[in-house]
Amino acid sequence: MRWFNHGTIERNLILMGVLTLITVSIGGLAQIVPLFTVESTIERVEGVRPYTPLELSGRDIYVREGCYLCHSQMVRPFRDELERYGHYSLAAESMYDHPFQWGSKRTGPDLARVGGRYSDDWQAAHLRSPRAVVPESVMPPYAFLDRPLNYTDIAERLRAQAAVGVPYTPEMIAHARADLEAQARPEADPTGFAGRYARARQGAFDGDAGVVTEMDALVAYLQMLGTLVRFSDVTPEQLRQQ
Ligand code: HEC
Repeated sequence: MRWFNHGTIERNLILMGVLTLITVSIGGLAQIVPLFTVESTIERVEGVRPYTPLELSGRDIYVREGCYLCHSQMVRPFRDELERYGHYSLAAESMYDHPFQWGSKRTGPDLARVGGRYSDDWQAAHLRSPRAVVPESVMPPYAFLDRPLNYTDIAERLRAQAAVGVPYTPEMIAHARADLEAQARPEADPTGFAGRYARARQGAFDGDAGVVTEMDALVAYLQMLGTLVRFSDVTPEQLRQQ
């Protein structure tokens, strides 16, 4: 067994290369192979659905404006966080986020459970002028979001999300425009829209049911955050796997 000496291996470049490759791939295989046997690494949780077209537009504005630079969207499983924000975030709650919005800095509070915490009016007033409602706030004002939302490309936006794995059906993509408008107009017929997106609320999110604005989209998005999963529906078994 002389050939197996270290000296031999170290002096033979090809043998050394092949053996290194085999050694390194063992570690890789140990990580990758188990993934072939599970359908998804994220346990599905009842209630989590793709964003409505209006919420998706709001999310795009959230990303465009860099809100993630000051706000995280992940409640960590620590007691102080649970008491302040509510139930800790589940992996499934951000499974349709491309890119995810966990954030890495909290100049302002975590927003993962901000949905429903304030009224639509409060959210819009706060975005227009944070110091009008929270005098000590250092958040910048976003009053310009009262301009009309450009959603001519909303179907393409849904299609792009579908391309990276978000389960938007061809029907959802075909109705993207109509669904966006239906959500921003409380008097619109909810039939088709409500069937496609469970637990989605219609409203005049910016306080005016007329033109669909960027403010409508952003407030609709914020008001949905953290509200899709009803924690009374989730089994302890599902929680343990998160
Ligand atoms: C410079 C940092 C900064 C940026 C950028 C920023 N915020 Fe804030 N935000 C804060 C701070 C600080 C607070 C806490 C004081 C307050 O309520 O205004 C806050 C509070 C909030 C709240 C209330 C949260 C709560 O639980 O009371 C919401 C909602 C919010 N921000 C949304 C946004 C959105 C949406 C954007 C992007 C359009 C954004 N913020 C951009 C700093 C920021």
